[in-house]
Amino acid sequence: APDTLDSIRRTIRDVPDFPKPGILFKDITPVLANPALLAQTIDGMIEATGITKVDKVVGIDARGFIFGALIAARLGAGFIPVRKKGKLPWQTRGVDYALEYGTNSVEMHLDAITPGETVLLADDLLATGGTAAAALHLIGQAGGRVLGSTFFIELAFLGGREKVSGPGPVHSLITY
Ligand code: PRP
Repeated sequence: APDTLDSIRRTIRDVPDFPKPGILFKDITPVLANPALLAQTIDGMIEATGITKVDKVVGIDARGFIFGALIAARLGAGFIPVRKKGKLPWQTRGVDYALEYGTNSVEMHLDAITPGETVLLADDLLATGGTAAAALHLIGQAGGRVLGSTFFIELAFLGGREKVSGPGPVHSLITY
């Protein structure tokens, strides 16, 4: 409902100059702390996709774990973490991707997804799209069938949607 989205939008806190001067950080912790808004956010992120059944939900380190795990539990799906390099204990497949300055690297366990399984990707934020594109790459390499991607917040002015719209529809609850 529009009222709900307005409440969520008003509850996201703008923090200027974090983590660096000139960056306006969208702090989602007040939304997470509010029981009604948290539930409505998770429901909204699921409803946007139209998905009612999926085998695995993949969430991205670290804030993506919150959304991915709650969405997975709600859909009766398994949860798979894509983690920053060096954090996963078992055999992994990794991918490097470019940041504004330098590169980053994320990994997924080799046995996390069985070929042919359906997958929903979830994260808190779609910014440049590099992180989500890397996760989608790993899911594709594992033989997962991506049904779509769902983000709490999309910074549309950064154009990340183009980078992630290959494997399935892209959804976001709040857009700036
Ligand atoms: C943030 C966010 C996304 C990513 C989006 O993660 O949670 O995963 O950046 O940016 P992109 O679209 O430009 O790739 P961050 O690396 O800050 O990790 P965190 O969740 O551990 O804070």
